[in-house]
Amino acid sequence: MQLHFRDDAPSSAAVDLLAVGLSPQGALSAELGAFGEALRAALQAEEVTGDTGRSQAWPTFGQLPARRVVVVGLGDGSPEALRRAAGLAGQAARAAGDKTVALAFGPLEGAGLTAAYEGYCAGNYRDDRYRAESARKAPTAELTLLGVSEGDLRLAKAVADGQELARALVNAPAEELYPETLADIARGLEADGLQVEVWDEQQIRAAGMGGISAVGQGSDRPARFIHIRYIPAGAARKRLGIIGKGVTFDSGGLSLKTPDGMLTMRCDMAGSAAVVGVMKAIAALKPDVEVHGIIGAVENMLGGRAYKLGDVLRMHNGKTVEVHNTDAEGRLVLGDCLSYASGLGLDAMVDIATLTGACVVALGDLYSALYSHQDDVADSILAAAKDGGELVWRMPLEVAYKERLKADFATMKNVGGPPGGSITAALFLSEFVGSTPWAHLDIAGPAFFSKTTRHYAPGGTGCMVPTLTRWLLA
Ligand code: BES
Ligand code: MN
Ligand code: ZN
Repeated sequence: MQLHFRDDAPSSAAVDLLAVGLSPQGALSAELGAFGEALRAALQAEEVTGDTGRSQAWPTFGQLPARRVVVVGLGDGSPEALRRAAGLAGQAARAAGDKTVALAFGPLEGAGLTAAYEGYCAGNYRDDRYRAESARKAPTAELTLLGVSEGDLRLAKAVADGQELARALVNAPAEELYPETLADIARGLEADGLQVEVWDEQQIRAAGMGGISAVGQGSDRPARFIHIRYIPAGAARKRLGIIGKGVTFDSGGLSLKTPDGMLTMRCDMAGSAAVVGVMKAIAALKPDVEVHGIIGAVENMLGGRAYKLGDVLRMHNGKTVEVHNTDAEGRLVLGDCLSYASGLGLDAMVDIATLTGACVVALGDLYSALYSHQDDVADSILAAAKDGGELVWRMPLEVAYKERLKADFATMKNVGGPPGGSITAALFLSEFVGSTPWAHLDIAGPAFFSKTTRHYAPGGTGCMVPTLTRWLLA
């Protein structure tokens, strides 16, 4: 998408779609002459308010050089409100296939400008790859920011590109995206200047990663372990890690899911998709921070070799796990990844995973759950999430619940029962982090939307790419 900054009057913009903001007090962000008067009357008649989340598109019937106008609620005008408003403008443009778009929100700068750009791109995205040619709608080719003379969009562009990549990876069917092809895509990041190491199933087993091995062994698609490194040119200010769950399809294994529960389980690699997207953004931004992106990629399937209930797994850190449910596979994969990452001596690490349905029960599908024993790590992620416009809620990592994981034959079992299921999953992970400051993000809710939600088209959302990119740069 080409981007222009221009000082022209919105009333003279000859574009497919002109996006205008509306304040809750009823003020339009652009002077549109006689058309503006008619528009104001129509807005009132249709009870369109300037609240965040409102949007309404209108044809201009030749009264303006712009073909259509979309009015979007500016809410309180905060960066977060601008993100949503621009997102709705992007969504309106994509729904109609509008190629040239002008945003007339008035002067934008700093965090507001960054948020508006990221929001626009997120709203303008929808995955048309699998539609018939005739059903596709073009994304925006040229975006003009009216009344904005200049601005630094380096961060916004890197985040938007990374998020789009993450969404495309999540949307790809599991028949196309499986551990080996995910590893190939990660390897493609070498072209961006990153170092990429991929282990096959024998190397994974030889390294003692009993969790990844067990979950992956039921599939004809062998597991892969992926380690992506960004090493800055000069001295590194700190060394950080992001670790993603890459279950490219979660059938539940022998503890089989229901058809409804399985339908969208290609999204179970959304954590790893975020890691790939963030690493791409980091490669573009080149910060003075060393970043390790680690992914355990498996397909959780049923087969003659599938892991079984009652199996005891020896994990990478030597702890053993009794399998009580093969559908609690993400923690087994991440346990090995976290143990490996803890050996790198990082200053902090965050894992990100579509880990539990219980998380969605607790927080609904808009919020990610955050767990950490370290307040400073948790606070730094909450701050990055606020800046990135993402909803994250800190949950208790209550050690008293650890006894729910007690097993008869092994260090622990892989399920803690229904109460607090997202918490016991996080406690399970905490057994593998060693002494590295750590946080866990359960994105089971917002990783994937089955229907249009806010300015997001159905499918993968690329959630936590805005947050984690900012967290790494902080
Ligand atoms: N991938 C699922 C969690 C999930 C559910 C993600 C819904 C996105 C939307 C995970 O592997 C899983 O199956 N968890 C089980 C754990 C249980 C068996 C302890 C769950 O949540 O039911
Ligand atoms: Mn599962
Ligand atoms: Zn899963």
